[in-house]
Amino acid sequence: MSKDANLIVALDIGTTKVCAIVAEIKSPDEINVLGVGTHPSNGLKKGVVVNIDKTIESIKSAVAQAEDMSGCEIRSVYVGVAGGHVQGMSGHGMITLKSKEVTAPDVERAIESASAVMIPSDREVLHVIPQEYIVDGQSGIKDPVGIYGMKLETKVHIVTGQITAAQNLVKCVHSAGMDVSDIVLEQIASSEAVLSNDEKEIGVVLIDCGGGTCDVAIFYGGTIRCTENIPLGGDHIDRDISLGLSTPLSEARKIKEKYGSAYAENVPSDEIIQIESVGGRPPRKIIRKDLAMIIEPRMEEIFSMVRKAINRSGYKDLIPAGAVITGGSINIDGSQEIAEKVLGVPVRIGQPNSVGGLSDHTSNPLYATGVGLLLYGVKSGGEKMIKIKDENVMKKVIESMKNWFKEFF
Ligand SMILES: Nc1ncnc2c1ncn2[C@@H]1O[C@H](COP(=O)(O)OP(=O)(O)OP(=O)(O)O)[C@@H](O)[C@H]1O
Ligand SMILES: [Mg+2]
Repeated sequence: MSKDANLIVALDIGTTKVCAIVAEIKSPDEINVLGVGTHPSNGLKKGVVVNIDKTIESIKSAVAQAEDMSGCEIRSVYVGVAGGHVQGMSGHGMITLKSKEVTAPDVERAIESASAVMIPSDREVLHVIPQEYIVDGQSGIKDPVGIYGMKLETKVHIVTGQITAAQNLVKCVHSAGMDVSDIVLEQIASSEAVLSNDEKEIGVVLIDCGGGTCDVAIFYGGTIRCTENIPLGGDHIDRDISLGLSTPLSEARKIKEKYGSAYAENVPSDEIIQIESVGGRPPRKIIRKDLAMIIEPRMEEIFSMVRKAINRSGYKDLIPAGAVITGGSINIDGSQEIAEKVLGVPVRIGQPNSVGGLSDHTSNPLYATGVGLLLYGVKSGGEKMIKIKDENVMKKVIESMKNWFKEFF
């Protein structure tokens, strides 16, 4: 594969796995996956880099595997950035009107004054979403231009992000020897792979349940409106099983992936499974429903935290398309049922399915972010944004982060 321009590479750096996917862009509507590499992720906690060296090692291994499988050399990657550091807050602005009638520049000034809030120095304002305008005390105005008055106020939702979280990821990718095509908020990437444009337009919540975290994003009117991060995921289920069945964590994870169910009602009471024991003891037999009784309360807890996040967001009544669940932990049997029961809205499983090539590998919800990064990259034109040699990486990181919440595409 010689022509670099036709290749696109995604690098999803998750809490449990780093995954590199190489694809060939055949046409804007057709991409073909040529290679996939995954390696356990050892340097992240809750989506954030806590050990640079270990993260670089995991990246190198995943990339080497994807290079071997595809026969391509990887020079630049689209990197997914977890949204745990993205926060929303409210702001309020007020200006005196010069001409007794609200003009478009007045609206801009009001929004500007609302954005002038104190934020910590490691954070950057990524986006300001006006929610309503108030003219001379009259609230609930959506479009104030042309209205007579003396005073214009606005209430806004301000989204801020921590620059260092993304910067550390860029540093790891650079140290692993690659340029960064762009950094993309994971929820935006996943949404490209599993949501339809219609869902994003009418209102939908995307829930990505990974190993360390469960990321929530609400889309409405075609764009992402808010994100929430629940610090629970598959790893916590593994711990519960390990304690509940007195088995090592690695074994607990295997048992979960093979026999787990998140909805005990689905599991017959007489089904027996055999699980490995530790320390040379013989395998044991347990009732599969008992395993489900361990998993179900944890999944219930995760989705009830999601429900609370949706209620807090103010978009509760603006998601008629319901919820789309994705991420590795959604592979547990019964996830959809438990999600529907707890959230009280229609739920479907989001499988990334719009790429060709190794679809057996990439149609699993585990790969929603990775496949989404590819699709995002194709849409955005595939340019290299942050090169190893760049002097002002920080400035470019901020520039990319600000794009996340704009009316993207
Ligand atoms: N068949 C399966 N059944 C149950 N759980 C599964 C299955 N396959 C994968 N998982 C779980 O999915 C989780 C990993 O999901 P994913 O790869 O989406 O996470 P990640 O992206 O590495 O982490 P995060 O998004 O939290 O940073 C692990 O807990 C794993 O055990
Ligand atoms: Mg993930």
